[in-house]
Amino acid sequence: MHGPATEMILGAQDGAARAGTHLREGRLVAFPTETVYGVGANALDGAAVARIFEAKGRPRFNPLIVHVPTLEAAQRFATFGQAARRLADAFWPGALTLVVPLRDPSGISELVTAGLPTVGVRVPDHPLARAMLEAADVPVAAPSANRSGRISPTRAEHVGADMTGRIDAILDGGACPLGLESTIVTLDPVPTLLRPGGLPLDAIEACLGEKLRVAGTGDGITAPGQMASHYAPDARLRLNAEAAQGTEVLLGFGAVKADLNLSPGGDLREAAANLFAHLRTLDAKAPEAIAVSPIPMIGLGLAINDRLARAAAPRG
Ligand code: TXA
Ligand code: MG
Repeated sequence: MHGPATEMILGAQDGAARAGTHLREGRLVAFPTETVYGVGANALDGAAVARIFEAKGRPRFNPLIVHVPTLEAAQRFATFGQAARRLADAFWPGALTLVVPLRDPSGISELVTAGLPTVGVRVPDHPLARAMLEAADVPVAAPSANRSGRISPTRAEHVGADMTGRIDAILDGGACPLGLESTIVTLDPVPTLLRPGGLPLDAIEACLGEKLRVAGTGDGITAPGQMASHYAPDARLRLNAEAAQGTEVLLGFGAVKADLNLSPGGDLREAAANLFAHLRTLDAKAPEAIAVSPIPMIGLGLAINDRLARAAAPRG
């Protein structure tokens, strides 16, 4: 089977405009955001959205995040209560996805939401993504631009390695500054963390003036599509390792002798930005296993440990 010839678009303003036109006309385009690269499709176009699931090998029950350039654009298809509005005002553009009720009718393809009455929405904080979304002038459904279950891409080369021949274009914007996917929050019935991510939990709690519940801890709220095994390299991972054993390679954090170090100075921001790229680099050496130094459970450490735990989980 022949897939599309994947066009590499250089990430200048005219490149963003070209990418936007592709999206509006139903083509699939990977693009940089401040978190990770997404692969986008016009969220109003069911056939285009269906191609995303095919290109990624993604199960249809796993809903997609819709990307828009402004809160006003989101309000055309979704409703924002007081708490959602407060978070959007405080953190958009940025690494926060809000799960909010869909309007009826919304125009958003049911494939995007996996038939749910809610939709995940985000305004990304990346100049190319925003220029592209403005040019597209349609809401853009976009999961991370990796094959389903694999490591998320933080550089255009990563997208190329996973998706060439499966999508129509890649907008190259260099490395993603945050390197971890957005934090996902729902407000209904109570403020709940569905996925830790690039916006730390304490910032959200400070904004709302209350603690968030955490999905999956017994209150019946779950995050659809949050699979136990995810972000998986080919190699096995061994977490909280003090040192490499035998033929393992060590992914370090802080002052340790390692094959690669997430942040020799112990900085969680730097570690987040390096996490997925370093996992790919070590995995390419086809080691027996990747041992990983302990990462503190504070700030961005929550999201880093979440991704590492899923990468280390038994494969389905
Ligand atoms: O940073 C990010 O969030 C990146 C960039 C590209 O924006 N996107 C991303 O998408 O990580 P993805 O598809 O890898 O993860 C989206 C997750 C789904 O697995 C699901 O758990 C959650 O978002 N989600 C989407 N819509 C939802 C909904 N209506 N209700 C609950 N969870 C939803
Ligand atoms: Mg993903």
